[in-house]
Amino acid sequence: IPVRIYPDLKEGSKFAAREIADLIRSKQAAGQSCVLGLATGSTPRSTYAELVRLHKEEGLSFKNVITFNLDEYYPIDTDALQSYNRFMHVHLFDHIDIDPKNIHIPSGEIPKEEVKKYCLEYERMIEEAGGIDLQVLGIGNNGHIGFNEPGSSILSRTRLVTLDNSTRIANSHEFANISEMPRLAITMGISTILKAKRILLMAWGPAKTFVVQKAVEDNVTEQIPASLLQQHNESLFILDEIAASDLT
Ligand code: F6R
Repeated sequence: IPVRIYPDLKEGSKFAAREIADLIRSKQAAGQSCVLGLATGSTPRSTYAELVRLHKEEGLSFKNVITFNLDEYYPIDTDALQSYNRFMHVHLFDHIDIDPKNIHIPSGEIPKEEVKKYCLEYERMIEEAGGIDLQVLGIGNNGHIGFNEPGSSILSRTRLVTLDNSTRIANSHEFANISEMPRLAITMGISTILKAKRILLMAWGPAKTFVVQKAVEDNVTEQIPASLLQQHNESLFILDEIAASDLT
């Protein structure tokens, strides 16, 4: 997997935001919509802040942008403080000119018996939009992408999954205590992600050093879901120096 290494997450995030903005503008020039796959978590926050700045200060418009988020806790109220729906509005959507009907984020409020159908419908909507042009990813300490935990099949599609204990511990700071954290999530699958035309995975800081080395340089294995990106020929890892420090 090609990598680009920056001194810090600020510089790396600026590069990612510029790549996204360039794609949006070139699609605009061609009169086409731009379909973005988006992640939440701490990793892309600074990229979203830079996109908001580009909108406010440099006239970047999101009128032609259609978004699909990777994942959401399940069950969770859409408006809950910890929901990824809220995260996306707070960090990006409330500050740009995207058409609300172009925003897609899995809902944590779907009744359990309807989740299967809902996930199929999510896949169908991605296809109907023309597929994802650019997918933004973070990486879990255990190598997950989206909430595709170790062992997820390369053929997996959008579905309900059980979160790993390690993921619940890593993300528990978002909740008052770990018992309040959902045990399940809805996530795009590995095959959904691999169908994106381009993939940008970002990783910052020491917690990611070990898993980044495995994903980039070790065997392709479903035990490290991010290593499956080695099989995608338009994927790029954007790293800070610390996250990249175990690469040979
Ligand atoms: C979130 C997502 C997850 C995160 C990963 C890293 O939408 O898809 O795979 O990217 O858990 O989380 P942070 O960025 O908080 O380290």
